[in-house]
Formats: sequence, structure tokens, C-alpha cells
Amino acid sequence: MTGAGISAESGIPTFRGTDGLWRTFSATDLATPEAFARDPGLVWQWYRWRQGIIGRAQPNAGHVALAHLQTRVSGFALVTQNVDGLHQRAGSTHVIELHGNIWRARCARGCDLVRDMAGTEPGSGPSGDEDTLPVCSCGSLMRPDVVWFGESLDGDCLDHAFKAAQDCDVFLAAGTSALVYPAAGLPLVAGRAGALVVEVNVDDTPLTPHAGLVLRGKAAELLPALESRL
Ligand code: APR
Repeated sequence: MTGAGISAESGIPTFRGTDGLWRTFSATDLATPEAFARDPGLVWQWYRWRQGIIGRAQPNAGHVALAHLQTRVSGFALVTQNVDGLHQRAGSTHVIELHGNIWRARCARGCDLVRDMAGTEPGSGPSGDEDTLPVCSCGSLMRPDVVWFGESLDGDCLDHAFKAAQDCDVFLAAGTSALVYPAAGLPLVAGRAGALVVEVNVDDTPLTPHAGLVLRGKAAELLPALESRL
């Protein structure tokens, strides 16, 4: 399972780090259904800005190492809290995206329309595109296909993630502060089911005391080293 820390070395801000997004921006103004109802333009502006950063970023050696692990370890499952799509750009497949994906938009009224927004990030097309809010064929606004605070996660995704946690022999938690549930519960489920929990992080987290192995350092350095020793 990965968190924002694995994308930090690709130049994407984490949420709670020194220059983390939640230190600069208010989650309640930008990442809740209420915020979107109040000011969809502001919310979209912020997500377009993040799309701009992510669109210019490249997967790093940490993402690549996990893509390699997937081809070498049978039964490998990759669960991410990240919405940046960098795992897929590094070659990972069947990524379980617990918190959605910033490159998709879905109908805010709940009809099933989901639209791919890749290639529409700011600077990618004629100016002014990014100011127009996406509208669904049902006439409703579209919203970023991400999980906001106070919202529940997709049931299928969660089931797959919990099953993988229960069945694994080794649970690798890389670049997550292990503060946001239900994701933060996954390594604990794995540990209770007898798996070796390995934490890869530059810092201590609430997961550290529960980890059987703690690798302190940067994901883009430690994950390739781990992969190369397998
Ligand atoms: N290598 C490894 N770990 C790193 C690195 C790095 N280069 N840089 C930072 N970290 C660690 C930090 O020490 C921290 O523990 O990554 C973690 C990032 O934590 P958060 O910013 O809280 O990100 P994350 O755990 O993914 O947040 C969970 O919260 O805001 C919501 O939906 C959002 O998915 C997100 C969720």
C-alpha cells in the first residue's frame, strides 16, 4: 500500500508534510462534498492546479520498483491512496485506487457517467478550457472522481484491499502517514492475520510500533534496493 510519500520524489506535494497541501490549503474548502456544493469553481480550480503538477511529473524509481515486483511476485496486490495515476504510468496494472483518480470526473448528481480527463490539464489545450466546468450529459456538473472527506470509499475497491491484506504474507506500507482510515487499517489487518508488516517511510508513523520491519528512508531509494534483493 502506498501513500503520498511515494510520489514526493516526483515533485508532488504530500498532504501533511512540511509543504503539505493541508498546511497550505483548507481541506474543508476544497475536499468535501459541502465545499463542492458551495463553490464548484474553486474546487475545480484546485484540482486543475494539481492536475497541472501531476501532468508534468514522472513516476520515480519507487513506482518503477513496485511495477517490477508485480511481475516477479505471484499474488502481488498494489493498493494506493494516491489519485495521481503514477503507478499506472510506471507500468503497474490492476492498481486498487482507494481514493479515486484525479484524471477522471464523474457526474455530481450520481448518474453513472465517468469521463477521462487525461490530457486536459492546464497548459495542455487552448487557453480557457480549464475555466469551463465539466458538465454531464444529464445536465449536472461533473466532479473529480476522488474520495472526499466524509465520503465512503468504493465498496469493491475496499473489499479487494481488505482481502489482499488478510491473505498476504508480507504487507509493504510505503510513504503513508497511516492516519487516514479505512486505508490505515489495512496493515493492521495484515499483521493480525500473521503477515510481516514492513514500513518504508522517512519518518515515524502510528504504524511504526506495529511493523515487523522498519526501513527508514526515501521510497525511491529503498524500494529499488528491496526489489533488487529479491
Ligand atoms: N519516501 C518515503 N516516505 C515519505 C517520503 C519519501 N520520499 N516523503 C514523505 N514521506 C512520508 C511522510 O513521512 C508521511 O508519513 O509519507 C507520508 C505522507 O503522509 P500524508 O501526507 O499524510 O499522505 P497519505 O498518508 O497518503 O495521506 C492519506 O489523506 O489527505 C488524505 O486522501 C488523502 O490519500 C490521502 C490520505
